[in-house]
Amino acid sequence: MVRRIAVLGSTGSIGTQTLDVVRRHPEKLEVVALAAGRRVREVFAQVEEFNVRAVALGMAADDFAAAGADAPEGVELGFGSQAVADLVKLPEVDVVVNALVGAAGLVASYETLRAGKVLALANKESLVVGGDLIMPLAARVDAARRAAGEAPAHGPAGALMPIDSEHGAIYQCLIGEDSREVARLWVTASGGPFRGKKRADLRGITAEQALAHPTWNMGPKITIDSSTLMNKGLEVIEAHHLFAMDYDQISVVVQPQSAIHSMVEFSDGSVKAHLGTTDMRIPIQYALSYPERWDAPVAPLDFTQLGRLEFAAPDTETFRCLALARAAGEQGGTLPCAMNAANEVAVAAFLAGEGTYLGIAECVEAVMDACDVQAVESIEQLLAVDAWARNAARERIR
Ligand SMILES: NC(=O)c1ccc[n+]([C@@H]2O[C@H](COP(=O)([O-])OP(=O)(O)OC[C@H]3O[C@@H](n4cnc5c(N)ncnc54)[C@H](OP(=O)(O)O)[C@@H]3O)[C@@H](O)[C@H]2O)c1
Repeated sequence: MVRRIAVLGSTGSIGTQTLDVVRRHPEKLEVVALAAGRRVREVFAQVEEFNVRAVALGMAADDFAAAGADAPEGVELGFGSQAVADLVKLPEVDVVVNALVGAAGLVASYETLRAGKVLALANKESLVVGGDLIMPLAARVDAARRAAGEAPAHGPAGALMPIDSEHGAIYQCLIGEDSREVARLWVTASGGPFRGKKRADLRGITAEQALAHPTWNMGPKITIDSSTLMNKGLEVIEAHHLFAMDYDQISVVVQPQSAIHSMVEFSDGSVKAHLGTTDMRIPIQYALSYPERWDAPVAPLDFTQLGRLEFAAPDTETFRCLALARAAGEQGGTLPCAMNAANEVAVAAFLAGEGTYLGIAECVEAVMDACDVQAVESIEQLLAVDAWARNAARERIR
């Protein structure tokens, strides 16, 4: 059966790679809706290629008019965050690929599961911010899929499929295992472009230097997060929610070759690792093909060329964002939401040349200190905390 997908963030790194997976499997996947931010010409070219009617742009209608681009004939075009969230509810959508960047993806993740659809999730910030609301919804969709006979006979029911390569790896290592026998999740990190550097070496780092990631080619926000290790901190929180693991059972290990995408350690000391070529089309495709496996979208890993595999503990004194994110996750409630928003503001300021590289962690810590942490109750509450934290962060850019 053809899976009909909505791709949110279709012009970005994950979005364009998702469309490449669709190109390779046109008999199995059909794009029925697209959402993007400002790259209007790119999204309209995608509309023509994939013959899509439903499109949402994150920008305001006035900005679109000012840009002077003509929408292709027959396209139903919506504007703003509500239009993006509405797209996921269309009856023709089976699976939503959420490849938006930042907390802007939260409402779309929430509405996808509320509508009973499968969520293929790249937007890790959704879980960091709203995991307490999203995971119960995912459990509800899983139960509905089981009741309707739509879930596979063995393994998870597949309502929430992680696209992050680390979480896709753990997801696969856990299949067929008893969750009570899982001792530890090992989340691997490349270490980023500044691996081995100390704080003194990081003063005066420019955006251009921080954007040069050694193993992955990604959008600017996640590339900066990878260099500060905030990305790994967000992934620890994501793993906590996705796999219902306590934080003291989630460890980070630096694996500079990025060949091991993550590992699961069991109670008898056995460890399962997931390896593969460093190409996001593999985890994207798995999130869309589960429980099946389709032909590889890229050449598989050639172990004779790999050379060696190295491992090291992360340096959380230099890369403080990892420790800050873990602390936010451990305290829980609305703190991860505030932490994430502060990071988004500080990263944007750094990219715009308005803040320093080391100032990112300082800003995040200051906003965390100022946050009045509450239990998570609703999406509206999280949006209010996000807005408060963004204002607080803007006053603390340094
Ligand atoms: N890239 C990777 O390899 C990778 C790996 C694992 C996880 N992820 C996660 O995947 C997500 C996307 O990352 P990325 O690297 O693909 O980012 P990216 O290249 O910056 O793409 C972001 C996409 O979101 C769109 N967008 C931004 N704001 C929007 C808004 N308000 N409304 C509608 N669309 C909006 C952008 O549209 P315009 O460009 O048209 O403005 C673009 O299509 C992030 O959460 C990231 O952490 C990425």
